[in-house]
Amino acid sequence: MRIIVLGGDGYLGWPTALHLSRRGHTVALVDNLARRGYDIEMGVDSLVPIVPLAERIQRWDEVSGNRLDAFVGDLTDASFVDSVLRQFEPDTIVHFAEQRSAPYSMIDRHHAVYTQVNNVVGTLNLLYAVAERDPSIHLVKLGTMGEYGTPDIDIEEGFIEITHKGRTDVLPYPKQPGSFYHLSKVHDSHNIMFASRTWGLRATDLNQGIVYGQETPETTLHPDLATRFDYDAVFGTVLNRFAVQAVMDHPLTVYGTGSQTRGMLDIRDTLACVELACLNPPQAGEYRVFNQFTESFSVDEIAQFVADASPRAVRVEHIENPRVEKQDHYYRAAHTKLLDLGLAPHLLERRTITSLLAVAERHRQRIDPAAVQPTVNWRATASPIATSPAGTAAPSLSPNGVAAGHTAHASPSSPRTSPPLASIGAPAGSLTEPSAP
Ligand SMILES: NC(=O)c1ccc[n+]([C@@H]2O[C@H](COP(=O)([O-])OP(=O)(O)OC[C@H]3O[C@@H](n4cnc5c(N)ncnc54)[C@H](O)[C@@H]3O)[C@@H](O)[C@H]2O)c1
Repeated sequence: MRIIVLGGDGYLGWPTALHLSRRGHTVALVDNLARRGYDIEMGVDSLVPIVPLAERIQRWDEVSGNRLDAFVGDLTDASFVDSVLRQFEPDTIVHFAEQRSAPYSMIDRHHAVYTQVNNVVGTLNLLYAVAERDPSIHLVKLGTMGEYGTPDIDIEEGFIEITHKGRTDVLPYPKQPGSFYHLSKVHDSHNIMFASRTWGLRATDLNQGIVYGQETPETTLHPDLATRFDYDAVFGTVLNRFAVQAVMDHPLTVYGTGSQTRGMLDIRDTLACVELACLNPPQAGEYRVFNQFTESFSVDEIAQFVADASPRAVRVEHIENPRVEKQDHYYRAAHTKLLDLGLAPHLLERRTITSLLAVAERHRQRIDPAAVQPTVNWRATASPIATSPAGTAAPSLSPNGVAAGHTAHASPSSPRTSPPLASIGAPAGSLTEPSAP
C-alpha cells in the first residue's frame, strides 16, 4: 500500500512511518517542522535527542534497506498539499499533522487562532485535494478522546442512538471539548463527516486517548531513529511527564484532585491501531469513528503507578488545577471497534513504566526542572509562556508570533504563511521539494 504520513517528523508520526515501512508499505512523510519550532519558542527540548529529519530518513534507509520519501511543507498551503498527492499517488493518508497541545492552544488569542487555523485549514485543504485528485484515497485522521469531554453518560464510538419526541435516529455523539485545541479536532470531525457524505470520500476518525511510551521495535534499532519525548508542562503527556519528575526527584505534580479520568494507550498500540485502520478501509462515502485507547485511568492512579515502579522515593503532590475541567466525574467510553479488527493491546504494566523511567534516567542530564511547572492558566485569556532552560524569559513574540531570533524555523508565524521550503533547513537532495502544481 502507498501511504503518506502527515506529521511524519512528530512524536507519533515518525514511529508510525517506520512501522508501516517495515511492514512492507511504501511510505512518504510530510511535515513543516513546526513542532521543532514550538520547542524553540517555548525554550524546551525533547528529553531524548532527535536528529534532523533528513538524517533520520538516511539512517532508516541504512538500517532497514527501506526508502522513505519526504515532503517538507505546510498543509495550510493548498497547492503544496495538492502537489504531494499528485506526485506520490497514495492509497491512504494518515493525518497526524496538527498542533496538538491543549495548553499551547490556551496560551493566548494568538496561539488559539494559530491552532485552529493550522488544524482546521490544513485538514480542509486535504479534503479538497483528496476529493479533486482521487476520492478513493482513504483518510485516516487522528482525533482525540478529548473531543467528547466528560458527559455523565457512557461515551459511544462516534455516534449515539437518540429517541426524541417519539422518533429515533443515530446521530454524532455530542461533543464538549475542554480547550481550543480539542475544539479544532471537533471542527475537523464535522468537516470530514460532511466531505465524506457530500463527495463520497472514505474516512476513519481515530479518537485517540493519551499516549505514553517512547520506544517502539523500530525506534530502538538505532539512536538516530528515536522519537521525541516531551516532558514539559505544555507538550508533555501525563505519564511521560511523571516519569521525568520521578527521576529528577521532583514530586509528581497532579493537577487538582487527580480524579480526572482519561483513556490511554501505549505508543506501540497507536502504531497497531493506525495500521489496522489502513488495512480495513471504509466504503466510499463512509465516515467512521474508532475510539483509540485501551484502558482508562485517573491522574492519581497514574501517579501512584509511577511512584510504585520508581526505585527512588517519590512523593505525589496535588497542585492547583490550571485547567478548567470536571474533576470527580463519571467516565466510561466504548472502545471495541479496533479490538474487533484484531488489536492485541499492550496494557499498562509495571515493566512499561520501568522502561520509561530508564529512558528518563539515561537522559537525566538534559532535564530542565523549570519546564515541568505549568504556566498556562485556562481561566486567563493570556498566560506568560514558559521560561527557557537557563531560566531566562522565553523568546518574546513579535506581533505575528515569530519568536525573536528564530525566524528561520516553522514556529507559529502567521498561520497562513508557511516559511519557504528552502528556509526550513532540509539538506538539498535528501528531501523532496514538490514542484509547482
Ligand atoms: N500524543 C498524544 O498523546 C495524542 C493523543 C491524542 C491525539 N493525538 C493526535 O495525534 C497527532 C500526532 O500527535 P503527536 O503527539 O505526534 O504530535 P507532534 O506535535 O509531535 O507531531 C505533529 C507533527 O505535525 C507537524 N505539523 C503540524 N502542523 C503542520 C502543518 N500545518 N503542516 C505540516 N506539518 C504540520 C509538526 O511539525 C509535527 O511534527 C495529532 O493530531 C494529535 O492531536 C496525539
